[in-house]
Formats: sequence, structure tokens, C-alpha cells
Amino acid sequence: MRTTRREMLGVSLGIAVTSSLRAQPASSAPPIQLPKPQTEGGKPLMQALMQRKSTRAFDGRKLPEPVLSSLLWAAWGMNRPDGKRTAPSAMNKQEIDVYVLLEQGAYVYEAKEHALRPVAAGDLRAQAGSQDFVKTAPLNLVYVVDLTKAGGNNEQDKVLYYGTATGCIAQNVYLYCASEGLVTVVRAYVDKAALAPSLGLKPEQRIVLAQTVGYPAGTPSVS
Ligand SMILES: Cc1cc2nc3c(=O)[nH]c(=O)nc-3n(C[C@H](O)[C@H](O)[C@H](O)COP(=O)(O)O)c2cc1C
Repeated sequence: MRTTRREMLGVSLGIAVTSSLRAQPASSAPPIQLPKPQTEGGKPLMQALMQRKSTRAFDGRKLPEPVLSSLLWAAWGMNRPDGKRTAPSAMNKQEIDVYVLLEQGAYVYEAKEHALRPVAAGDLRAQAGSQDFVKTAPLNLVYVVDLTKAGGNNEQDKVLYYGTATGCIAQNVYLYCASEGLVTVVRAYVDKAALAPSLGLKPEQRIVLAQTVGYPAGTPSVS
């Protein structure tokens, strides 16, 4: 195979650079265990509902690991010993995976282990949507359906069921954000064809929606 100038540059800088400059699959890297989520407290539900809204201006500040942990548990964590989750899914198919795009890499949330399994190295946030805030907000969630798991007797029902399951997860994130002083917006504007290969998705996996999360723009940092 011919070595490109970019690849040579990558070698000379001691970094891996592919000809497409895409992040490398990191599936062999070990999962990152998340701390135990905070499953008590927060604002009363009716207050969180009162404050639920979409926001499109984010501070660049990273989410602390305990916050990310609780957010992911609220989104799509296991809340019962039988493996059921914080959001419903038709026939309990659990066909949605939550991909977690952080500055340092992309991961898939493994609910059973409450861990992040690396799927790609590097910052893929700019590929997670066309709106400006997407590339600088600290977290983008990408909701991905596995069509081999999806319930429904025909195509129309399948789309309805996995779309609904995704919406329920997204609303969990909205409510967690309202409770914890974070801001968020769920998004259909995502170039699915561009992002799917970067996340190493299989042909039976489809991106459904994305959701950006962070602190409100202009929040003073907490030391
Ligand atoms: C399926 C779906 C797709 C959406 N896609 C986008 C999007 O791509 N970009 C965006 O800024 N907002 C998006 N939104 C957010 C809506 O614009 C927002 O929910 C609506 O304006 C109502 O505002 P609220 O969430 O503050 O009540 C989407 C919402 C849903 C439910």
C-alpha cells in the first residue's frame, strides 16, 4: 500500500493519522468503569418538568465523571435486578444503544456493567451534527438502533417502536438536565451517513437521533 504524505506526517509526529483523518476504531481498548450513579435526590419531578426545555448555547466545560455517570444511568441505565431499564422499549427489546461522544473519544454505554466501551479514538463531536454548538459542547449522545433487535411486525411498526424508545431515553436526559442545572437539545440534524462509519456501526445499526448536553453558556466554573 502506498504511504501518503499525511500518514508519513503522522508517523513523524508519533500519532496515528489515516488518509481520511477519521478517528481509529478503539474497540480493543478496555472499557472505562463509571462511578456508581447518584440515584437519589435531584429536583422534585414536577419542578424538573416545569424547567424542561431545549437549549442551544453551551459552555465548553467538561462534565465531571460522576455527572456523566448519573446522566447515562438516568438516560438508559438498569433500574431493576431483571435487567430492565429507566426507559421503556416495546416488548423489552432494548434495541437502542447510547453512543457517547466526548472530546477524548467515542464510547458506547454498557448498562449492565455501567461502563463506557471505547469505539473510536479522537474527537468526533464535529461529526455529530451540523449546528455550531455541537462541536464544542462537552457531550453529544447518539442514539443508535440495532435493527436485528427491534420489535414490530413490519417496517412501519419497527420505526414507530424504536423512535418511541429513543424519545423516552431523550426525555430522561432532558429531565436529568433540568434537575441538575445542565442544558440539552435533542437533534435530528446529524449527517448519519458520515457519522456511522466513524462510530464503526454495522449495517444493521442505524443512527436515530442525537442529543447535545452541557452546562449553560456563561456558567462560572466551579473550582
Ligand atoms: C425528533 C426531534 C428532532 C429535533 N431535532 C432538532 C435539531 O436537529 N436541532 C435542534 O436545534 N432542535 C431539534 N429539536 C428540538 C425542537 O426544536 C424543540 O424540542 C422544540 O422547538 C420545542 O422546544 P422545547 O424542547 O424547548 O420545548 C428536535 C426535537 C425532536 C423531538
